[in-house]
Amino acid sequence: MNIDIITVVPELLEGPFSHSIMKRAQEKGLLTVQLHNLRKWAINKHGQVDDYQYGSGAGMVMMCEPLFNAIQELQQDKKFDEIIFMTPDGDLFNQSTANQMSMKENILIICGHYKGIDQRIRDAYVTKEISIGDYVLSGGELAAAVVVDAIGRLIPGVLNDETSALFDSFQDNLLAPPVYTRPADFKGMKVPEILLQGDPKKVEEWRYEQALLHTKERRPDLLKGDE
Ligand code: ADE
Repeated sequence: MNIDIITVVPELLEGPFSHSIMKRAQEKGLLTVQLHNLRKWAINKHGQVDDYQYGSGAGMVMMCEPLFNAIQELQQDKKFDEIIFMTPDGDLFNQSTANQMSMKENILIICGHYKGIDQRIRDAYVTKEISIGDYVLSGGELAAAVVVDAIGRLIPGVLNDETSALFDSFQDNLLAPPVYTRPADFKGMKVPEILLQGDPKKVEEWRYEQALLHTKERRPDLLKGDE
């Protein structure tokens, strides 16, 4: 999978993809993440990519021209399956969207800044608008990092068996059950007996019950399918 990201602050995204699982995914050739500084397509030598909004109002808006030129140039190399705009007024990101996105070949992500991007780019190019939660970040970069991480780890081959995504929270609309590792008794706090007995069927049943209980307590909305 190839993910291209247009941003005015590429530095913000250099860290998240250079470590751990995202780094390994790229080293294995399963994922490429390319950062594109929008200022490369600035309208003048001052690096201008934004301007005041029509109709007055606080905050600058990212202009059509740099975004248009950036998208056009990137489209010469790839046919994007999705052009995603990160925005607090987008569709709320969840595991189901991550699953769908992980099956795409080429994704372009646009990170907004300031007051957002000119609506005409959204109308003409953007195929999906994503929010990572009901709060406003100072830019789309950290949100894009969240989305790329959630998608990237689902690409077949990225996770090994030990970290398999099959048992993650939200797959099956359930939160994950509790997990334990050695020692079996830590300062009198004991690992549930069933996990020590070595009966895989019983363990599976216990995990399912725990997941259900946990979900009922914390996220009953998931069980109603209206997450
Ligand atoms: N940009 C600013 N806030 C955001 C959010 N909550 N989700 C996605 N992009 C954003």
